[in-house]
Amino acid sequence: MLPKRTDFPKDFQFGVATSSYQIEGHSFGGAGTTHWDTFAATPGNVVRAENGDIACDHYHRWQEDLDLIAGAGFDIYRFSTSWARVMPEGRGPVNAEGLDFYDRLVDGMLERGLKPALTLYHWELPAPLADKGGWRNRDIAEWFADFTQVIADRLGDRIWSAAPINEPWCVGWLSHFLGLHAPGLRDIRATAHAMHHVLLAHGRSIQVMREHGMSNLGAVCNFEFPLPADDRPETLAATKIYDAYYNRFFVEGIFKGSYPQEVMEAFAPHMPANWQDDFATIQQKLDWFGLNYYTCKRIAPCEGPWPGHEEVEGPLPKTAMGWEIYPEGLYQFLTRTARDYTGDLPLYVTENGMASPDTVENGTVDDPARIAYYKDHLAAVQRAIADGVPVKGYIGWSLLDNYEWALGYEKRFGLVHVDFETLQRVPKASYQAWKEALRAS
Ligand code: NOJ
Repeated sequence: MLPKRTDFPKDFQFGVATSSYQIEGHSFGGAGTTHWDTFAATPGNVVRAENGDIACDHYHRWQEDLDLIAGAGFDIYRFSTSWARVMPEGRGPVNAEGLDFYDRLVDGMLERGLKPALTLYHWELPAPLADKGGWRNRDIAEWFADFTQVIADRLGDRIWSAAPINEPWCVGWLSHFLGLHAPGLRDIRATAHAMHHVLLAHGRSIQVMREHGMSNLGAVCNFEFPLPADDRPETLAATKIYDAYYNRFFVEGIFKGSYPQEVMEAFAPHMPANWQDDFATIQQKLDWFGLNYYTCKRIAPCEGPWPGHEEVEGPLPKTAMGWEIYPEGLYQFLTRTARDYTGDLPLYVTENGMASPDTVENGTVDDPARIAYYKDHLAAVQRAIADGVPVKGYIGWSLLDNYEWALGYEKRFGLVHVDFETLQRVPKASYQAWKEALRAS
């Protein structure tokens, strides 16, 4: 059983999240090619070379999906707009059909009493912009500001909250240093540029939305709790570097106007010209901050160039992603974020959840591990609240089993099972557990 709505403060809100490319079906409705389409079409990048062409067919089944969200009793739906669906070339002409889709979707949320929590960019960069260097090119801040303007003009009057970019670490490090997400680069200079430009684009987007009169604007970053594999000084030093480029870089940029020394030691020669001047734009005042949290990582030093460390396997039970289940990390990040960076600013858990190898048996899906995962992480949130951390909401990942990026369709994070042949939705036991927990009394 999950804790009940009534076990949380009165104004605490619950939600569920998805993202455009992972669920919509990118081949529908005149969307332009994205760098995820090209990445997936290149051998070796994605399991079975799967892509988002059909995904969950949410583009056609969105009403059924909104009914599922409202039917469970969630307050918030965190969704994203696909840049390439709205502006197929990334700049210039707008695809009316794409913009109409989001317009209907937002109205559909409001009709069902759901609060639309918009993320403008959840990773599917229009390919023509990738051709121009994508996140490595400083101009992306203005391209993204223009896209923000189009979205604000059409949806801004009905959006409950908005964040420009989902998980800057994934846009920067995972995609340009580790090469595991599009565009699949492994280059420190590309990484330094991308990590800085992503924050510049964040700042410009917030400015555009403010000028438009939108409110409740925030940022969403992802965090992994670093645990040293042993207590040798070199292991502790390696863990500190991991923490700096993963968990501190973006929050420090936004809330302190600086980057961690541990990262700048390696990044300094690779930063874009006059990068310090950009903090005036990056440091826009925010109304809330969102944390995506899933797991911890064990760090050990190793030979080789900076950052000179590797991840080693830990002893805790793992999800289907191979990620250790470590709710303590969520508590630690909530308390540390408020203490070191955000103070009284409302915090939200904007993603949390687990993948498991779910199958439909006799018309239902039994996923007790997912219920336990949610229960333990909600308890971590309750502890943080009891300590005075202003956590105002919790959003689970994800409504549906969906396209898990480089891992294709086999990692199932949904509260609702999706059969990727028939596209039929079957609510799992975890969906029913949420429904029970969210009942008004
Ligand atoms: C973070 C991302 O925002 C989302 O796209 C992804 O599916 C989940 N984590 C699970 O890996």
